[in-house]
Amino acid sequence: MTRRAVVKGVGHYLPERVVPNAEFEKTLDTSDEWIKSRSGIERRHFAAPNQTTSDLATHAAKAALDMAEMEGNDIDAIVLATSTADLTFPSAATMVQQAIGNTKGYAFDVQAVCAGFVYALSNANALIASGQADRVLVIGAETFSRIMDWTDRGTCVLFGDGAGAVILEAETGTGTTDDRGILATDLNSDGRYKDLLYVDGGVSTNSTGVLRMVGKEVFRHAVEKLAQTAHTALDKVGLGPDDVTWVVPHQANIRIIQSTAKKLGVGMDRVIVTVQDHGNTSAASIPLALSVGVSNGQIKQGDLVVTEAIGGGLAWGAVVIRW
Ligand code: UT7
Repeated sequence: MTRRAVVKGVGHYLPERVVPNAEFEKTLDTSDEWIKSRSGIERRHFAAPNQTTSDLATHAAKAALDMAEMEGNDIDAIVLATSTADLTFPSAATMVQQAIGNTKGYAFDVQAVCAGFVYALSNANALIASGQADRVLVIGAETFSRIMDWTDRGTCVLFGDGAGAVILEAETGTGTTDDRGILATDLNSDGRYKDLLYVDGGVSTNSTGVLRMVGKEVFRHAVEKLAQTAHTALDKVGLGPDDVTWVVPHQANIRIIQSTAKKLGVGMDRVIVTVQDHGNTSAASIPLALSVGVSNGQIKQGDLVVTEAIGGGLAWGAVVIRW
């Protein structure tokens, strides 16, 4: 008998304001054509000035709770992946906790940038497997529009805001890969690459800062490391690419998604793609894609889903889920 973290609900939220590529042509030496062909992005959502990351996260959390037919106080733990929390402290997770009316659980943020949701899922799985929680709300939420250098065409056209959430609940499985729930995780980071993607400010340096990225180098690492981490996670439970129903990758760049799928040996007809509509929403991108994939009928109960992501750190990882 094995304790498994089974997905019971999923939901997402995107801010109302949609910004098409053409809007950047007014202020930058760029074009819809360049952005589309180099990244696959066609539009992204930006939060309203008074909307914070925890606001977006709360909307997504409520949608996931609805699907799971649960209330705020049914949740034992909230794990929120973000690099753009409302305040330095307390955590955005505790703000969501208050907003959903949870008074009995515990809540904390996880910061692994674009790999944040994979890290959060892995942490939530460990809480459930070890018996420290029965029901965990896992959220990825970001307002990257707040940390853009609007004069840097190499970065500001790529990112967007949004949130996605998943509810995990403990169930007893048989210990085989036919069990529903999280079957395997693989986490990695390598701080030697911290200068490839970072924000050039923070609390300890008395500044806010903006995102800086050596795009070409991150691209190179992404293609190599994403396929490798997905393979490693599948290997851990004796599964391979042929067993995979859906790959749900971090949505940074369609060319990275295509190259990784090819390296992994999975056709693009088995990959969920939302990058055209959301841009890169960092830790929110995978739960957003999961929620879109479920709501449009692509991801169904029993499917084998593999998520993989890489971001600042560098930090990267993958999670294998029997949906
Ligand atoms: O989520 C975390 C992980 N992040 C990523 O995975 C992002 C990884 N990197 C990428 O997605 C790609 O490297 C980018 C989309 C950022 C850039 O694509 P690229 O094909 O690597 O282009 P590049 O950086 O080599 O730039 C090619 C040219 C350059 O001009 P020159 O030097 O050839 O004259 C850039 O200055 O394109 C220029 N360029 C632009 N041109 C028009 C860069 N940004 C733009 C732009 N519009 N927005």
